[in-house]
Amino acid sequence: ARALKKRLGEAAAGRAFLLQGGDCAESFAEFNADIIRDTFKVLLQMAVVLTFGAKVPVVKVGRMAGQFAKPRSAPTEVVGGVELPSYRGDIINGFDFTPEARIPDPERMLQAYTQAAASLNLLRAFSKGGFADIHRVHAWTLGFTSDESAERYRALSDRIADALDFMTAAGVNGGTSAALSEVDFYTSHEALLLEYEQAMTRIDSTSGDWYATSGHMLWIGDRTRQPGGAHVEFCRGVQNPIGLKCGPSLAADDLKRLMAALNPGNEPGRLTLIARFGAGAVGQHLPRLVRAVREEGAEVLWVCDPMHGNTIKSPSGYKTRPFDRVLAEVREFFAVHAAEGTIPGGVHFEMTGKDVTECTGGLRAVSDENLSDRYHTACDPRLNASQSLELAFLVAEELSNRRDRLARAAG
Ligand code: PEP
Ligand code: CO
Repeated sequence: ARALKKRLGEAAAGRAFLLQGGDCAESFAEFNADIIRDTFKVLLQMAVVLTFGAKVPVVKVGRMAGQFAKPRSAPTEVVGGVELPSYRGDIINGFDFTPEARIPDPERMLQAYTQAAASLNLLRAFSKGGFADIHRVHAWTLGFTSDESAERYRALSDRIADALDFMTAAGVNGGTSAALSEVDFYTSHEALLLEYEQAMTRIDSTSGDWYATSGHMLWIGDRTRQPGGAHVEFCRGVQNPIGLKCGPSLAADDLKRLMAALNPGNEPGRLTLIARFGAGAVGQHLPRLVRAVREEGAEVLWVCDPMHGNTIKSPSGYKTRPFDRVLAEVREFFAVHAAEGTIPGGVHFEMTGKDVTECTGGLRAVSDENLSDRYHTACDPRLNASQSLELAFLVAEELSNRRDRLARAAG
């Protein structure tokens, strides 16, 4: 958690870039080594592309190994005239639409803990055991861009391959450099279920400080960010890096109170503001919050979550997110930061390494009619592997345009 905080501080200053991604909700049913490996693999591919675009290190954080509790907009759900308590994530109750499944069961917290621990073990092995070697990772991406539909990303992908070939020729490779064969990977989740978080909070014996040991980074959701509320109060008391979701209803004054409560020492890397307004609404909300941060002289990392403001119900009845709107929100986020002279420091996605059909659009276009083919999410619709990688290419373009603009401005 301390190492991650340092790296997030670098991202806040523009010397690194945060890539945070994973499931909306991890589930007990969809848990095996292949699923974790595939999501990790796509995150690594995205990170290579983003590193090349940004020309700074990419800090990799999974919504993994603990992302089990879900806030819901409504306490109950009605299907075919039957009303039941809402599903609140596998750590609380069951997804099946039956009265039994929806009864909260505290034993589920133990299973979530066990699954998180096993996931972390796997992630550690994958990140340090050779799987993350940058040459392998980029070879998968070359497979993706060799496809005819991905032609527009081929030039960038080939330039990365050239750079790697050059380094190998110069004697820098995975065998000689851990920087090329291993990655640092961190975990995060929403600190929603306080009974669980409290049980996982310990004093760190080396510093004497309180830490949440359920994940490296925790965030406060858009529905539980009341200043003075329990979730803010919990996060205030631990030293982990903390994220704060910022949706359209967040008032500038409340943001000021939240920053004062969550980061009284103005420590770089402590507070990440995760903007999630929806395409078309970023220009209305982000500038007033960016100014509130400036007025306070607060150190924050600004990150774009282009998922949660862009959820719609498709004509076929599925919750979905159109790829174009996800991309549009990312572009608006970059544009506002360019206009305000502030730093767009990262992105936050709901995604999976599997070939699901949950978000519409993208290169291998998923249509409305396709949604029913492989719709597996336990909560919100995720980008599939191809959509995730495509988005990374498009964000890399934004990052490289930004670098060009800054270089020109500097003469
Ligand atoms: C989430 O990240 O899954 C989520 C529920 O986000 P938000 O709190 O921003 O709605
Ligand atoms: Co979600």
